[in-house]
Amino acid sequence: MICFYLNDELITLSHTRADLTVLNFLRENKALVGTKEGCASGDCGACTVVVAELNKSNGDLYYRTVNSCITFMSALQGKQLITVEHLTSSSEPGNHLHPVQQALVDHNASQCGFCTPGFVMSMFGLYHNTQSVARQDVLTALSGNLCRCTGYRPIIDATLHACNQTRQDKFIQNRTHTIERLQALVEEPNDLNQNLHMPTSRAELAQAIQQNPRAQLVAGSTDLALEYTQQLKPLDTLISVSQMESLRRVEVSETALILGAASPLNDIQPVILEFFPELGEVIERFASLPIRNQATLGGNIANASPIGDMPPVCLALTAMVNLDNGTDVRQIRLDQFFTDYRKTAMRADEWIDAVILPLPEDNSRLLRAYKISKRLEDDISAVCAVFNLTLEEGKVVALGTGFGGVAATPMTCPALEEIMVGQVWSNRDCVSLGQTALRNAFSPIDDVRASATYREDVLANLWHRFWLETNSASQTIETRVISHA
Ligand code: FES
Ligand code: FES
Repeated sequence: MICFYLNDELITLSHTRADLTVLNFLRENKALVGTKEGCASGDCGACTVVVAELNKSNGDLYYRTVNSCITFMSALQGKQLITVEHLTSSSEPGNHLHPVQQALVDHNASQCGFCTPGFVMSMFGLYHNTQSVARQDVLTALSGNLCRCTGYRPIIDATLHACNQTRQDKFIQNRTHTIERLQALVEEPNDLNQNLHMPTSRAELAQAIQQNPRAQLVAGSTDLALEYTQQLKPLDTLISVSQMESLRRVEVSETALILGAASPLNDIQPVILEFFPELGEVIERFASLPIRNQATLGGNIANASPIGDMPPVCLALTAMVNLDNGTDVRQIRLDQFFTDYRKTAMRADEWIDAVILPLPEDNSRLLRAYKISKRLEDDISAVCAVFNLTLEEGKVVALGTGFGGVAATPMTCPALEEIMVGQVWSNRDCVSLGQTALRNAFSPIDDVRASATYREDVLANLWHRFWLETNSASQTIETRVISHA
C-alpha cells in the first residue's frame, strides 16, 4: 500500500502496477495534465514535479524536483506530490499565480508554453530550498529543463527575480501543518501489493528477494524506468528499497567514507566534496538536478553501465562495495565487481549495501575527474577519465584510474597504474608512456556519442592534460572540453 498526498488530497493505493509512473498516474488516473510528457526519458524536464518530504536531519521539509516520467509510484510513500495545478494561491477565479509563475509572465519567459510547467516546478523547488539565490544556483536548478523556443535568458532572469524576493506562499504558511500530516502518514503493511514490495528492514528485503526471485530491485528508478518508457517492457514485480533507511546512511570513519547504496547523489554530494573537492564538476555534470535528486550511488554501480559517471570515480578511488544477503555481508573491490557488459559479481540473493571510499592519507594526492560529452549538462559521457595520483618526493608511489565509455564495463587501467609507479612525475616522458599504455589497453567502439578514434585520442589527451595540470599550478587548464565532432 502506498500512502501519500497528491497536493492536498490523501491518496492510498493498494493495488497498482509496480511500473506505473507518476506521470501516467497524474495524466491518466487524475486528469492532471498540466504536467507534460516530452521525452519520457528524464531528458527534457517537461514532466517535472516536486516531492515534499521530511528532512530527518532538521525536521523541516525538503522540496525535491523529480522527473515524473521515470519515477515509479513507490517513490511517493510518505510524501507530498506537488503538481503545477496546486501552485495557485486561490481556487477562486482570477489571477492567483505563484510568484515564480508571475515572474515568468513579467519577464516574457514563455512562448509556446510546453516546457513552462516543468520550468515552473524547478523554479518552485529552488524557491523553497535555497535562501540566497545566485545565478549558478539557477543554472543548477534548471539543468534538467529544455526550452526550444523562448531562450534561457528571460527564464533565468525570472528565476533570479522570483527567488530573491521576500518569500511568502501558501506552502510556507502551511509548513507546520504539512510536516504534521507527513509525520502522521504511517506506512501501512504492503501485503496487498503482490507485485510491489517495499521492505523497511534488512530481513524484509532478504525475504522479498527470496520469495520473488524474478523481481527487480529499484532505488531511484532513473535507469530502470527507461526499460518501461523507452523499450515498453513491463516490469511486473519490483522491490523498492526507497523505505530502507539503513541504505541511506552516511558514515565517516577515520579511514573511509561509507555511503549507503540507496543515497541519492544530490544528498551525498556535500560529504563527497568535503573529502574530494576535485570531484565537483563531474558530480555537477551528472545528468541534471532532478536526476541527481533520485539517482543513487548504488544504482549507478549496480546497473554496470559502461557509461555511468560514478563507477570511474569510485574505481580511481579504489572503492569497495559491501554486498549483503540479509545474513552475511561480504566486501569486494569495485574493480572485481564488473564482470562483463551489464554483468556483476553480485549473487542473485544479494544487494549493494554500501560503497566504501577510502579517505586520502595526506595531501600529496592529485585527483582529477574529466567528463567529455556533447552538452555540458544532462548528457551521457562519451569518455569519462579519472586519475588519482600519489607522489612522494616527486615520484609516483600509486596511481588509481577509472574510465567510462571506452570498454564494455567501467574499467581501470592496470598497465598504466603499474608503469607509472616509480616515475619522476615532472619528467615529460610520463606523458608518452601513459598515452601508449592507454592506447594499448582500450579498444573503444564507434557509437552515436563518439567514434572509436575520437575516444582513443581523447583518452590520450586527457592523460596529457592531467600531467600538465598537476605539474604546474600555473598551467591549470580552465577551458572545459565539452564538444567534439
Ligand atoms: Fe522529458 Fe520527463 S518527459 S524528462
Ligand atoms: Fe516553447 Fe519553452 S516556451 S519550448
